[in-house]
Amino acid sequence: MKTLIACYSYTGNTMVVAERIKKNINADLTVIQPIKDRWYMIKAIHAYLEKKWPIKDCITDLTEYDCLLLCCPVWAGRVPPGVNQFLSQLENVKGKKLAILVTMGGDGKQGATEQIKIALDVQGMEFVEKLIITGKDQKSGEWAAKAEEFSQYFME
Ligand SMILES: Cc1cc2nc3c(=O)[nH]c(=O)nc-3n(C[C@H](O)[C@H](O)[C@H](O)COP(=O)(O)O)c2cc1C
Repeated sequence: MKTLIACYSYTGNTMVVAERIKKNINADLTVIQPIKDRWYMIKAIHAYLEKKWPIKDCITDLTEYDCLLLCCPVWAGRVPPGVNQFLSQLENVKGKKLAILVTMGGDGKQGATEQIKIALDVQGMEFVEKLIITGKDQKSGEWAAKAEEFSQYFME
């Protein structure tokens, strides 16, 4: 299964997990990067309001891929604005598989994965797997075993 990993990571936590999965499954990686950084409160408010921030060029055309693994942190329980922009720029997604990885500081309660799922379901993507890495998983190192297990799906 040819997979594109698209990753947004502000402080690096999500990227560490995405890189581990990339190594396991030999996927392509494209980095989602907002053009402008904003203050913490603006980040949280804009995520909560489901705003979009302009992003730098990255791969948004899925023609060559069977599956998209979208990776991002949870902000205010939701999707970061740069990722909302990425979702709106995606092309040729119909019939492709969608997997989601989110990292967060809290215990796993979040609306971001559902938000992504709904946004891409209406465009004809098929949701297949998700991995939520909590703050506890990050501190204990448990994230690595979870990433290994999650990687298995993409190796079929
Ligand atoms: C603006 C902002 C809002 C956040 N909101 C939440 C939240 O609602 N729930 C949560 O568990 N963690 C929240 N976090 C923590 C991040 O989700 C967590 O640290 C994540 O692993 C960061 O990933 P990154 O290093 O890839 O950016 C927030 C972090 C930031 C910067």
